[in-house]
Amino acid sequence: MNNNQNDKNDKNNKNDNNDCKENINIKKLSSIFGKNIAEIEILKAEEKGLIPAGHPYRKGAIISKGWNLDQISPIGEIFGFLKKFERPLAVSVFTTKGGVLKTTLTLNLARIAALHNIRTLIIGLDMQGDITNALGHNEEFEESNDVNDIKEILAKINATEGLADVFNRTIKVENVVYQTPIPTLCYIPETPELAALNESLSNINRREYWLKEKIITPLKEFFDLIIMDCSPNWNRLITNALVAQDVLISPLECKINNFRNFKVFRHFLNEFKKDMDLKFNTIFVPTRYCNTKKLSIDIKSWYNKNLPSCTVNGIRESTYGEEASALKLSLIEHSPSKVVAQEMRDLFTEIFSKINNFVSAENFNNFNNFNAQEFNTYTDTCTSASTDMMSDKSNLDDELNRVFYGH
Ligand SMILES: Nc1ncnc2c1ncn2[C@@H]1O[C@H](COP(=O)(O)OP(=O)(O)O)[C@@H](O)[C@H]1O
Ligand SMILES: [Mg+2]
Repeated sequence: MNNNQNDKNDKNNKNDNNDCKENINIKKLSSIFGKNIAEIEILKAEEKGLIPAGHPYRKGAIISKGWNLDQISPIGEIFGFLKKFERPLAVSVFTTKGGVLKTTLTLNLARIAALHNIRTLIIGLDMQGDITNALGHNEEFEESNDVNDIKEILAKINATEGLADVFNRTIKVENVVYQTPIPTLCYIPETPELAALNESLSNINRREYWLKEKIITPLKEFFDLIIMDCSPNWNRLITNALVAQDVLISPLECKINNFRNFKVFRHFLNEFKKDMDLKFNTIFVPTRYCNTKKLSIDIKSWYNKNLPSCTVNGIRESTYGEEASALKLSLIEHSPSKVVAQEMRDLFTEIFSKINNFVSAENFNNFNNFNAQEFNTYTDTCTSASTDMMSDKSNLDDELNRVFYGH
């Protein structure tokens, strides 16, 4: 684990000693995990040593019991709604459009998986560095007002090492894995050198396989779930992610001008998959829909009806979502009792269930090396009433006309 981050953790621990406890009580735990957790069940688990002992804290006249953020993953494992997969899994979150909640989905899925004691690693692959910022990397420097510190701060910022340093063989992959305040959540940060790495990857043998062979496969020994947050542009880092992934999660913005983008995206994706003989499964997730706008609801229904691999649940436009992103939290942690948080729990349950089906189908079919689930998804897509959007423009237009204009 990277040393800089260990300094930061020491600082966090010191804060704890200064009474900065988070006091996550049973009521809050119940709302995060979306079910009524009985106090007696928690006490039993505590007694058996299955979960960490909570600390007493004063709430008005009442003494209550609370846990810190870094203690709740074992509680999530027992009382939560997600279970880890049968084998380690690499997922990328990608589509060729910006602002469609790729990074938001990455952050939310990763934090919630980690709070279920699923050892999760985020790999930032977008040169904009949004997920690295969302994880609070170098956050303390942003807030510093002391100009005298500037040299020291710059030195510390420059000390952040990432994938490019592993590529240049200056360090081992373990040294670019940073820890977050949730013990089961780690990340590899984006650094400006990702741009150079993207170029360098073009000049090596097996240039699409570097990420899979040098990063993802070795790290699957230490993590149950690896999530790659992708940029919206199709570059060498992205093709590496597509080769390394077991599952692609692709946000589908519920806006009319997304159709054209989606059509081109699917075309490129299918061509790449065929050329490279890849076996990954795809899950489409509707995002940014608005329950009060008919067009938005119609578009979401169209996706659901016509894309078998699209989730029924999605992420709608909401100020709670925006607030959670601004606070660098998952929506479920930020507003656990709101409808939008329940929708996200349902979405993650659905995504996990789809992935489990893929994994079971893979086990079942390993015998004759044929992935039936993948094949079924593919044939369903091609033969469904919607037709293949990317190869047949007129059918797509007919379908859209029928859905939106009723003729
Ligand atoms: N549920 C939501 N509704 C509307 N906006 C959201 C929601 N959740 C997050 N946002 C905002 O949307 C912006 C873009 O999302 P982001 O995940 O960065 O997109 P991408 O990674 O696809 O470019 C973020 O700045 C975030 O504040
Ligand atoms: Mg992003």
